[in-house]
Amino acid sequence: MSLDSLRPIVDPTTRAKRTILVVDDDRRVIDLLQISLTQNGYNVNTALTGEEGLESARRESPDLIILDLRLPKKTGFEVCASLKSSKETSHIPIVMVSASAEVDARLQGLMHGADDYLTKPFSPKELLIKVRRIFERIEKTELLSTKNKELETEVAKNREDLLVRNKELRFQVYSLETLMELTHQLNASLDLDYTLNTLILSVVGQLRVNAACLFLTNQREDPTRLEACTFKGLKEEQARAIGFSYDGAFVRALLPLEGEEIQPLRLGQLEHDLDVEAEVGSLFAVGLTIVCPVVMKRRLAAILAVGEKVSGQEFTANDLDMLRVLSESACMAIENARLYKDLQDSYVSTVRLLVSRIEEKDPYTHGHTERVAEYSVGIAKEMGFIPEEIQRIQFGAFLHDIGKVHTEDHVLHKPGALSEEEWRMVKMHPVRGAEMVKGVRFLERGVDVIRHHHERVDGKGYPDGLKDDQISLAAKIVNVADAFDAMTTDRPYRSGLTTEQAVAQLTEKAGSQFAAEIVDVMVQALRSGSINVIKNTMPYVPPASMSREDSAPKR
Ligand SMILES: [Fe+2]
Ligand SMILES: [Fe+2]
Repeated sequence: MSLDSLRPIVDPTTRAKRTILVVDDDRRVIDLLQISLTQNGYNVNTALTGEEGLESARRESPDLIILDLRLPKKTGFEVCASLKSSKETSHIPIVMVSASAEVDARLQGLMHGADDYLTKPFSPKELLIKVRRIFERIEKTELLSTKNKELETEVAKNREDLLVRNKELRFQVYSLETLMELTHQLNASLDLDYTLNTLILSVVGQLRVNAACLFLTNQREDPTRLEACTFKGLKEEQARAIGFSYDGAFVRALLPLEGEEIQPLRLGQLEHDLDVEAEVGSLFAVGLTIVCPVVMKRRLAAILAVGEKVSGQEFTANDLDMLRVLSESACMAIENARLYKDLQDSYVSTVRLLVSRIEEKDPYTHGHTERVAEYSVGIAKEMGFIPEEIQRIQFGAFLHDIGKVHTEDHVLHKPGALSEEEWRMVKMHPVRGAEMVKGVRFLERGVDVIRHHHERVDGKGYPDGLKDDQISLAAKIVNVADAFDAMTTDRPYRSGLTTEQAVAQLTEKAGSQFAAEIVDVMVQALRSGSINVIKNTMPYVPPASMSREDSAPKR
């Protein structure tokens, strides 16, 4: 080996500064290797014995060890085995150096964990190539290891993202299902009060807000204003004190421009506008902070306002979406309920017209059907019937005697007792009435009440002689209301009974002519004042042929 041949073969500035430990008992070899390796950009530590080498390796943790096989006291094998068996030093690559004749030794070195082998005599160039290859291998391994770690981190992060996204997705699916269920409920009911109450409860429950209020046009009293109609989390006097004029700047500010999507609005966004300050202030004062307009046919039909979240957290985009969808549901529900109410009003007018025809034939019962309907609705409300069922009962009550249009006038107006044949004709009115409405879609809901309002729980009624549970609650209610009105109404030949006398009669016949549970409710409601006796205030005009009438309760 000559010093001339020890010029650098790799630019040291491009390589990381690595440390190599040279262990050799030959000082000249150590010097030469130190010069060559240092010139090529490596740090070099040296040791002359195996023990020194071990100590240095443990202390400095070099990047590579060049280890001579033949060392005093501790052989290269022993040093190699010792380093490879220790957790702290096992990763350090070892190049064993030995004489060419020692083939067996070379194999043994590899068996003791040496990573490579150099045969003496070797040129510095050969050594540097070997060293460089070892470091390239190490660098590749390190690079792979770094990439692997980066990949692992990325996978872990993706997994976390995925978990977060899954959670968000699950929440969105849940919200959507809830909304669908709610929309179904809202559209299934055609009663406006019930619908709006359900909506407000859902808003509070779904968004977990401390207050919510729906402002709606007061069509009957003042159609130019929006007023609180349903609310939760507010005191009645607080809610009733807030209202918005259609001409006001606040309503104008909430209306979306043409083509613009309806979006919930934070009141803070409007606050700086002096024109709307008073209205915004009234909402803020009761803790309402976000409003969502409900627009129908380009007119503001309602405003849904909500307070803060109970958790104190900010509203998420998902919350605002939900508020918007709930407002849209409210919009559809309000429209459906109003259309239905218009339709209902028109049906009721038609029915009233039909009923007036009966009452024209039997003028001493003027207003009878209206009163029976009112008593029946009163009883049904006391019994906690749902709005749709109450409407059905009201409809049936209006129509209960419609079959009398087919009863001969002379029979209806006959003074004195009826013959058997005439009585048979009168008893036909429930059957004839039921036949009249059958197949007429909007009247058909009353068919059960019409046919069975003269049935008795003891089975002695007509036309079908039904008993107890065979008679519907609706028919039992109209049966009691019908009899009560007949008892308390003045007739040409007698005054109507007092309320107490009528109650006594109902109570006496409870369980035979009348359903006891309905009589109980009616009596309680009369005593508490939730049902009041309605007197016939119309002047009585007797038919020419009439002199007296059977005093038996209604026929
Ligand atoms: Fe009747
Ligand atoms: Fe009647």
